[in-house]
Amino acid sequence: MNDLIQLILSRRSIRKFKQTPISKKDLELIVEAGLAAPSGKNQQTWKFTVITSTLEIQKLADAIGKVLSRENYNFYKPTALIIPSNLKESPWGRDDNACALQNIFLAAHSLQIGSVWINQLKDICDHELIRPILDSFEIPKNHVVYGLAALGYPETEVKQIERKGLIHFVE
Ligand SMILES: Cc1cc2nc3c(=O)[nH]c(=O)nc-3n(C[C@H](O)[C@H](O)[C@H](O)COP(=O)(O)O)c2cc1C
Repeated sequence: MNDLIQLILSRRSIRKFKQTPISKKDLELIVEAGLAAPSGKNQQTWKFTVITSTLEIQKLADAIGKVLSRENYNFYKPTALIIPSNLKESPWGRDDNACALQNIFLAAHSLQIGSVWINQLKDICDHELIRPILDSFEIPKNHVVYGLAALGYPETEVKQIERKGLIHFVE
């Protein structure tokens, strides 16, 4: 089995992180992998915002917690967030950003960095408690965040899970 397939097959979502910071060099590499994702009509209308301040991360988590009535919400206490955003009106924004996120997860995994998709922002980006925080991160007002990556070094090993799904060859 080649290294890439091995990497894909061994990735798991990580929800418990060490508080060791991720280097800027590694974060840049991981975002570069996101930028290498395919995009509808090659529009590449995305932006990738990287947050490494745990204070800023928790500020966003607190606002999400308030809006969604989730007590003590914290994104699982990651040491970094990569927030892909895309034009609200792009017909491919959600798909493009999902492709980018998978590249981000795999690139992170290749560097022994754990990650998980965070889905909570997608319907509340324009909420009065959320948009000012996105503004402060310089996420454009005409962008939406469909999903984001919470990242950190894994605290514990996570076992593989059963993979369901059908495969059918027509030959
Ligand atoms: C569209 C999408 C939304 C997700 N949202 C969340 C989320 O908000 N929080 C979370 O902990 N995991 C989230 N996940 C991760 C899934 O729960 C996870 O991928 C799934 O349980 C399979 O586990 P694995 O990633 O370890 O293979 C999301 C995954 C996808 C693809």
